Amino acid sequence: MSHLLGLDVGTSGVRCIAIDHQGTVRAEVSVEHPSSSPRPGWSEQRPEDWWEGARRAIAGVAVKVGRDIVGLGLTGQMHGAVFLDQSDEVIRPALLWNDQRTAAQCEAITEKVGARRLIEVAGNPALTGFQAPKVLWLRDEEPKSYGRLNSLLLPKDYLRLRLAGEKATDASDASGTLLLDLKERGWSREIVDALQIPIEWLPRVHEGPAATGQVRADVASDLGLPAGVVVAAGGGDNAAAAVGNGVVSDGLVSCSIGTSGVLFAHSDVLSLDLSGRLHAFCHAVPDRYHLMGVTLAAGASLRWWGEVVGKPDYDELGELASQAPPGAEGLVFVPYLTGERTPHMDPHARGAFVGLTSRHGQGHLTRAVMEGVAFSLRDSLEIMVGLGIKPDQIRATGGGARSAFWRQLLADVMTCPIVRTEADEGPAYGAALLAGVASGVYADVAEATAQISLRSDVCEPNPSTARRYADYYAVYREIYPATRSAMHSLTDLASG
Ligand code: XUL
Repeated sequence: MSHLLGLDVGTSGVRCIAIDHQGTVRAEVSVEHPSSSPRPGWSEQRPEDWWEGARRAIAGVAVKVGRDIVGLGLTGQMHGAVFLDQSDEVIRPALLWNDQRTAAQCEAITEKVGARRLIEVAGNPALTGFQAPKVLWLRDEEPKSYGRLNSLLLPKDYLRLRLAGEKATDASDASGTLLLDLKERGWSREIVDALQIPIEWLPRVHEGPAATGQVRADVASDLGLPAGVVVAAGGGDNAAAAVGNGVVSDGLVSCSIGTSGVLFAHSDVLSLDLSGRLHAFCHAVPDRYHLMGVTLAAGASLRWWGEVVGKPDYDELGELASQAPPGAEGLVFVPYLTGERTPHMDPHARGAFVGLTSRHGQGHLTRAVMEGVAFSLRDSLEIMVGLGIKPDQIRATGGGARSAFWRQLLADVMTCPIVRTEADEGPAYGAALLAGVASGVYADVAEATAQISLRSDVCEPNPSTARRYADYYAVYREIYPATRSAMHSLTDLASG
């Protein structure tokens, strides 16, 4: 039987998987790549390293499944800027999603387009990680490089150029540039003109399951692929992961706990958070949208705390936390260890334990850390509910989803059943399903996602614990406004 490949260019490495038509993973190869931070707040990678990793990962998977491959879908880290010259040579290392150097350019964009108008058209305020401010930074700070600029790509789309010779993107990833008109699902003339970015520099925008050419013959023979492998447009990492979890219809929400935590809600229609606290993006499903909230230090808080207490894995932390009751006897943790995106959009926010007494031991503190991360994700859920999202079910995914204690805690804090999918293979899995549509294996995304099965161990919220958490969550929400100024002063003192 033929296979479908999903290729994910992540922040720490490239991952390629092969699935069969029933959605079972048949092969997987990951290759790490380096990052560099030439100055504080800068974050860069070499697109050539992605390509090297992709070549090794694809070739490795092709060997394992015996060249029997019909489609390849692309996904990856969003927002990055790959700057190309007239000969499609990379001009300088790519600036990544977590690069913070563009504060001045974000202000300039907000002034030129208008804060409200940006959200109305592009769904989001100007944030340092997005692609558009990076282009303005190049213009302001590296005019020689800017003089050579001839086209712009997102990370996964650079791999498409190398694989298929096509300059194309998909609507979900394009939403992370700040240049897309979300309603039109095409580049916004208004924003592009206001920022004086030539529209010819931008790739063509497709829907996620659309075919964007085939792997070039010379590349196919180099990588051990058969002729004619169709390349799907694919999706940004969160949208592709949502396809892989079957979050493709109203009422479905996913919650992923990696380093950061992402709450992702499918929406049939575009609903904008005019306060700019939630991201609104196109989905990788044609004509559909999604809302997304991000807790910057979700898994990162648990990892930090695990190192402090010498218990690095989620199950051990869960065991420790279960020694304390819900609410940890009056102790609340706020997880802003690296600032916070949703709902505060504040890089200077800081973490805290509030309510400490001499009664509190390791179990209480561990429980409070886990609860604080869940409260932060509930902040995103509350904004979504305010925008009309009505979740019936939250699909938990990522490392955190494997702990039963953690899933129950999430169910109780979110007051919503928590389920898991069988595969739980992240963005590459969704990209492979999209490749299945592009290559004609499945008729559409609904048929592709029908391959996804759910595990039977659903965590239902416990009503009395949920009530207790509602009281603690109310206190949690008071902490940031009450301590914001102290958090900022401490950030200044630490950097001074
Ligand atoms: C999404 C975001 C991250 C990156 C890297 O807005 O910044 O999820 O896509 O994974």
